Amino acid sequence: MSDSTSPGPSRPQLVTSQTADLSAAERRRQSLLMRACRREPVERTPVWLMRQAGRYLPEYRRVREQVDFMGLVKNPRLAADVMIATVERLGVDAAIIFSDLLPILEPMGMDLEFAAGEGPVIHNPIREPEDVRRLRELDDIDPLGYVMDVVRATRAGLDDAIPVIGFAGAPFTLAGYCIEGGTSKAWLHTKSLMYRHEAAWHDLMSRIARAVSRYLVAQLDAGAQLVQLFDSWVGCLSPDDYRRYVLPHSRAALAEAARMAPVIHFATGNPALLPALAEAGGSVIGVDWRIELADAWRAVGTDRAVQGNLDPVVLLADRATVRRQVRHVLEQAGRRPGHIFNLGHGILPQTPVENVLDLVAAVKEF
Ligand code: CP3
Repeated sequence: MSDSTSPGPSRPQLVTSQTADLSAAERRRQSLLMRACRREPVERTPVWLMRQAGRYLPEYRRVREQVDFMGLVKNPRLAADVMIATVERLGVDAAIIFSDLLPILEPMGMDLEFAAGEGPVIHNPIREPEDVRRLRELDDIDPLGYVMDVVRATRAGLDDAIPVIGFAGAPFTLAGYCIEGGTSKAWLHTKSLMYRHEAAWHDLMSRIARAVSRYLVAQLDAGAQLVQLFDSWVGCLSPDDYRRYVLPHSRAALAEAARMAPVIHFATGNPALLPALAEAGGSVIGVDWRIELADAWRAVGTDRAVQGNLDPVVLLADRATVRRQVRHVLEQAGRRPGHIFNLGHGILPQTPVENVLDLVAAVKEF
């Protein structure tokens, strides 16, 4: 993308709606986070937090007393307001859209429910090779139109300096939910289908990858500045198995979006996967706390930006510990351009809000 516009005193004084639009686009392009994605120098490290809008916030819990989780996700005005209010309260540098990994599976034929206190449940899981055919192509994105409305409403409600992040689950993580029918510790059904029925596995992963690719592109078309792919559970695989069973599908899911915008590729649980994760794609690689950030950066290559990597459990500690740990992460990044401060995984519901505010303040101060 070539963009030669540079705001400055020499620009024509005549402000048409077109020039006003251009400067809005330029302000979005020049935000701290977007510059960090491109590994350009920044005045300070940008910060946002995975699951920044969630149950640790009393305002969020109050909204949830009125509406169930999918009701919230499918109400674009309310979903956008939840994230906009969170960004303003925390003073973070980006808004991820308020949604979830799993709604994409509904129009593909999965019977999804967020059961109170249990997390996501899929009532018709895929267990046998012949079940894979039940997973429909996402030829038409319209059933997920409410997500694009969330993107538009979130974008419209925020200053141009705050990028809006679209997101999707990665093929392995979504396949895991389809097969297990919910969250799992060991992902045994998933891995046994993968090892025992390799052809059916690749068929399943290809179907999901095509859907994810369309979904990410649609979010960018709707006005997101960048997207994040969450491979939250892929850490249960070895690097060799990741390359064989996952990498080509994650690459396919990301390729089209990566031609349009920066992509953050996040995984957790297994730092040994980082080189292969970077090979699959992503201008930014999301890293957890199981590896020092400087080592992670070497593993993915200094031609990438990195995001991370504070342990979310640190936010259950006292202020001095939070500040010391924040400083450690920033020292590991060593002032190299291309670091986005984040946790290594989502904020826990037990987290005190003051600690989150302290974290953001510490990143800005150091
Ligand atoms: O602030 C944000 O990041 C909001 C958007 C967001 C949610 N989920 C809201 C949510 C995002 C980006 C997600 C991603 C997501 N969803 C992931 C990837 C991140 C990660 O933690 O690895 C995963 C694995 C899911 C699946 C999921 N959604 C689970 C396992 C659960 C239940 C456990 C839990 O944390 O509640 C959810 C529910 C969910 N998604 C909630 C929120 C705010 C809580 C639902 C509630 O209000 O009761």
